[in-house]
Amino acid sequence: TVPFILDTDTAQDDCVAIVASLLDPEADLRAITMVAGNVGFDRQVRNAQMTLSAAGRLGTVPIHLGCRRPLVLPWVSAENVHGDGSGGLDMDFAETVTEDEHGVDALIRLTAESPGEISIVAIGPLTNIAMAAVKDPDFVGNVKSLVIMGGSNNGRGNITAAGEFNFYVDPHAAHVVFEAGFRDITVVPWAPLTLNDAVFSREQLAGIEAIGTPLARFFLTVCGPTLEFDESVGIPGTTHPDSLSVGVLLHPELVTEARGYHVAVETGSELTRGYSAMSWGVHGLEPNARVVEGVDAASFHAWISELLATETTPS
Ligand code: BDR
Ligand code: CA
Repeated sequence: TVPFILDTDTAQDDCVAIVASLLDPEADLRAITMVAGNVGFDRQVRNAQMTLSAAGRLGTVPIHLGCRRPLVLPWVSAENVHGDGSGGLDMDFAETVTEDEHGVDALIRLTAESPGEISIVAIGPLTNIAMAAVKDPDFVGNVKSLVIMGGSNNGRGNITAAGEFNFYVDPHAAHVVFEAGFRDITVVPWAPLTLNDAVFSREQLAGIEAIGTPLARFFLTVCGPTLEFDESVGIPGTTHPDSLSVGVLLHPELVTEARGYHVAVETGSELTRGYSAMSWGVHGLEPNARVVEGVDAASFHAWISELLATETTPS
């Protein structure tokens, strides 16, 4: 199994990433750390708890609350895309415990306890990861590998023309992380990869409805708002880069194309804030990350469907 920590701004596709992190037999999820991003911070925590509950795993994985705002800039939400992040879901459950230890300290401690063994999948703004790197000089060396959902390698943004949401919200944190010297960074970009390979069309969603489990229904509920938004901007379905990022860690065979790039994130310009410049070798810059350029989309969809077929008892 693969030991890892999931750093998340839990809404919609983050919920699905949590489901995969809990239920995939390869996954050894050590902690969830929360970061400011998609929707209000406390709502994100509740979305994470509802996801654990829907998967029948509430109380089995510690949830640590991390940074409540980006490093330098004010927080920007994606509530126009995600609504409350869980399609209006309101669940009653017995336990809503979060840890006292801050998310940044949990990232530092857990990786220090098993140096070189724990990976991190970061599916929100990179504030917690940057803070951990700044706070403890050993953190970077202790992390086995870091999978980052963020940026685009065709210049196309989803919150501005050039800015992908996670890098746009905290470009300074992204800058710190790409300069920090992590030994193994994999980037799962929003475009073109997500648009090519990680969209669930209405037809595929009908297939998920036919699965009929509570988890499949949970998936459809949390994806509802983004389906509407994505379709309104011409994307033929709901986008799932976050669960794909977990898939890339747990099932590297999903990746069909990847190459090394030097990734740098724009912090100085309002027009191109969060833009990820991915230099492919002719500019004399050494690669600092592997960027996923293609995945086996059919296997990715089948993997999610299989997980959603798990019979769970919401706790
Ligand atoms: C990313 O931004 C968020 O809205 C999604 O959860 C995903 O992590 C895509 O740009
Ligand atoms: Ca996310």
